[in-house]
Amino acid sequence: MNQQQTAAKAGHDGEPRIRVRGLGKHYGALEVFKNIDFDVGKREIVAIVGPSGCGKTTLLRCIDGLLPHDTGEILVGDTRVTEPIAGVAMVFQHFGLFPWKTVSENVAYGLRMAGAPKAEIARKVPEFIKLVGLAGFENAFPYQMSGGMQQRCGLARALAVEPNVLLMDEPFAAVDAQTREILQFELLRIWQERPTAMVFVTHSIEEAVLLGHRVIVLKGRPSSIHETIVIDLPEPRTRETLQHPRFAVLRERVWSTLMAEAREAEFVLER
Ligand SMILES: Nc1ncnc2c1ncn2[C@@H]1O[C@H](COP(=O)(O)OP(=O)(O)OP(=O)(O)O)[C@@H](O)[C@H]1O
Ligand SMILES: [Mg+2]
Repeated sequence: MNQQQTAAKAGHDGEPRIRVRGLGKHYGALEVFKNIDFDVGKREIVAIVGPSGCGKTTLLRCIDGLLPHDTGEILVGDTRVTEPIAGVAMVFQHFGLFPWKTVSENVAYGLRMAGAPKAEIARKVPEFIKLVGLAGFENAFPYQMSGGMQQRCGLARALAVEPNVLLMDEPFAAVDAQTREILQFELLRIWQERPTAMVFVTHSIEEAVLLGHRVIVLKGRPSSIHETIVIDLPEPRTRETLQHPRFAVLRERVWSTLMAEAREAEFVLER
């Protein structure tokens, strides 16, 4: 599929891959979020922004099946999520690599957990290491690599299982600004080659608008969806997207939505 075709297929047309319906979650007495409803298309990136502590990580862990939810339901394809299911991969903020394993071993781990046969692991590990630009570092340990390289390794591990759902929890938050920009465009390149349903949590409004086909803004305590902003920027997203006049308009829109939330939160605290 070429990039134009991919672009035409991007978005939330057709059957969704992920369906979240009336989702609610408590930790003991703390109600984290309630009434969360959204879909993610098979070839769609949905970015989620919201204040610290509003439950973004919790939401991803519920979709991943790592955490039970209290109310509502999550469907991935036709499967109701009650435990981790095949085809869903997560990339964490702090890389989540095994420090005692090399790059190859870390990438192989996800495949081994997914029950892939040895021959498939041997074929895929170098393929995905190359895809994320880490060729030559197969035998390096995490401590021998920069943060950006470690995050590439985390990405390779998630991508190697060829997920149809990719959950990203602030994956670029721990790298410097320049590396972050490089990784954002690398991710877009990889996504254009292998589109999946992606939920991308970030604190960066720019990142949300650059990557997302829609941006969901969470608000309140317990939080719920305050607004969903459609990011109608041309595909494929590239470095030029940042210069597009509509980019500035949408960034401002997400920013003012988030700031309204922050002001309201302050007001509640003051009272
Ligand atoms: N295992 C847990 N047990 C009890 N409370 C928790 C647990 N994990 C998170 N919380 C609480 O739930 C709320 C939501 O946490 P969560 O980590 O999902 O937020 P977040 O939106 O990802 O925040 P951040 O932007 O800082 O990463 C917070 O108030 C947090 O203190
Ligand atoms: Mg979080």
